[in-house]
Amino acid sequence: MQLRNVSTADVEAYVRMRCDPVMMADLGGPLPRAGMADKVHRDAREAAEDIAWLKMIVPDATCPDAVAGMVALWAHDSDDGPVSEIGWMVLPEFQGQGLGKLAVRTLLEQAGRANRWGLVHAFPAVNNAASNGICRSVGFQLLAETAVFFSGRPLKSNHWVIDPAQVLS
Ligand SMILES: CC(C)(COP(=O)(O)OP(=O)(O)OC[C@H]1O[C@@H](n2cnc3c(N)ncnc32)[C@H](O)[C@@H]1OP(=O)(O)O)[C@@H](O)C(=O)NCCC(=O)NCCS
Repeated sequence: MQLRNVSTADVEAYVRMRCDPVMMADLGGPLPRAGMADKVHRDAREAAEDIAWLKMIVPDATCPDAVAGMVALWAHDSDDGPVSEIGWMVLPEFQGQGLGKLAVRTLLEQAGRANRWGLVHAFPAVNNAASNGICRSVGFQLLAETAVFFSGRPLKSNHWVIDPAQVLS
């Protein structure tokens, strides 16, 4: 498994992840396909400029165009100040094989080595067993249940937090 920056060639993978009702069931429902090319271009630029870590999950490093999903680490403002947040998606044919967990752990190890992001927060939907499984299994601490907004839509989520330095040890 390898992680690589999102590129402008990843539109189809974004459409499969973000415009699909099953993939988006716990994220407020599918997004319109129309905005995806622009979104990928914005994300590819942010990744290239190292503003955010937006990584495609590549199961076979010899085929970097064949992706299993993505894992993202970015910073944003909240009522309590700046927050580093991680999120992830794995396409159906790759789910249940440990790839999501490995990708999240790998990105957190990179964050720990870079010593850049501080504490990292995750907000999976309360009923998303696999995402909460990733948090538990990687070593996040569960803080509370909370309401978060994804693409402007409110979601009932669990608030998990981890110190990436702890993933290295
Ligand atoms: C959530 C998602 C990323 C999980 O990825 P995955 O590669 O299938 O997960 P993994 O195989 O790495 O499993 C991670 C952990 O969760 C557990 N898990 C996986 N699927 C599970 C399920 N359906 N129910 C309970 N636990 C589950 C695994 O056993 C593993 O824990 P372990 O290491 O203790 O055994 C993937 O299913 C997905 O993208 N779903 C749709 C989009 C989505 O929900 N995105 C996240 C929004 S918060």
